[in-house]
Order: sequence, then structure tokens, then C-alpha cells
Amino acid sequence: MSEYVNDTLKAILNRKSVRHFSSQEVTKEQLNELVKAGMAAPTTLNCQPWEFIVVTDKEMLSEFAYSLQFGKMIDNAKAAIVVCTDTQKASEKHYDYAIIDASLASENILIAAESMGLGAAWVAVHPKEVAVNYIREKLNIPETIIPLNVIPIGYPTGQDYVKDKYNADVIHWEKW
Ligand SMILES: Cc1cc2nc3c(=O)[nH]c(=O)nc-3n(C[C@H](O)[C@H](O)[C@H](O)COP(=O)(O)O)c2cc1C
Repeated sequence: MSEYVNDTLKAILNRKSVRHFSSQEVTKEQLNELVKAGMAAPTTLNCQPWEFIVVTDKEMLSEFAYSLQFGKMIDNAKAAIVVCTDTQKASEKHYDYAIIDASLASENILIAAESMGLGAAWVAVHPKEVAVNYIREKLNIPETIIPLNVIPIGYPTGQDYVKDKYNADVIHWEKW
């Protein structure tokens, strides 16, 4: 292992999409800490266009699992964070900046979850129009706000593993 590996790099390198959750409960404090990590992300011109909806209602989680393609694992999660973004708050009210900023917030949440011994995964909502409309309707989200993803949260069972994606071929030193 590299001499540079510290707790932060360990969390980054050990992060994985967790799709199997144990029955252990997750606390409101833990969920708040995850959202706080999201808000620490870099954001264009410090505009912070993100909004977060924390869902713990079991029935709602089951509905998400049933309705979102590739979201079955939400059914056994203890909570989910829906990361949204507001183009009106984004730099230059620009759609791309709104999505980029909320994506960075999402990645922070995924890494923070790993660092706290929790598991999480990105379940796509945007840019699937059907999923965006469904989540908007279920959670009362205004038309101007884009729900980017649903991030299920829970304790991992240990069935999900890190994929080693390091690939020296995609690093171009100095020039392509
Ligand atoms: C934009 C985006 C959308 C994704 N959508 C889903 C999804 O709907 N369901 C899912 O199980 N995983 C989803 N993922 C997770 C990827 O499948 C996962 O990150 C990839 O397979 C690499 O695995 P890892 O996260 O364990 O490193 C998504 C990831 C991204 C970045």
C-alpha cells in the first residue's frame, strides 16, 4: 500500500456501491452528518444549489424500490437521501453547474458513508424523465427542482466488494 494512504484515502479507495443492508438501524445524527458532508462539496461560485430530502419511512422506501429501475436495494435500506438541485440557485442559473454541484455533494455523501462504516449507492433519477416525475410527485418536489438520485443508506452486510478501477492506461502524462 502506498505511503500516502491515510483515513481519507482509505474511505475513498474502499467506497463501493452497497446494495445489501443489514437490519441495524441508522440514527438521525448519522443521516445529518452525511448531509453535512454533502454540503461541504465544492460548488460553482459557492452557489450551493443543492437540496436534500431524507426519507426514513419504510413504506416510501419500498415504493421507491419497486418503482425505480435498478433501485431494488432501497427496500432493505434504513433510509435514503434524495439529492436535488435548483437551477435557479446555481451559478448563472446554469443547468450544467446545478447538476455538477449536486453530483459532487452526492459523492461526498457516498464517501462519508464508507468512512462511518455505513453503506450507500447512487440510484439514478435524473436524467430519466419518468423517474424524475415519479420522485417529484412522491416527495412534493417543485417543478423547478431536479431530483438527481436516491441514495439508500444502511449498514452493509459485507456482500458488496470494492472494484479495483485503477487503470494506468487512462493516465496521460503531460500530453495525450
Ligand atoms: C450517475 C450514476 C448512476 C447510477 N445509477 C445506479 C442505479 O440506478 N442503480 C445502481 O444500483 N447503481 C447505480 N450506480 C452505481 C454504479 O453502478 C457503480 O458506481 C459502478 O458500477 C461502479 O461500482 P462501485 O460504485 O462499487 O465502484 C450509478 C452510478 C452513477 C455515477
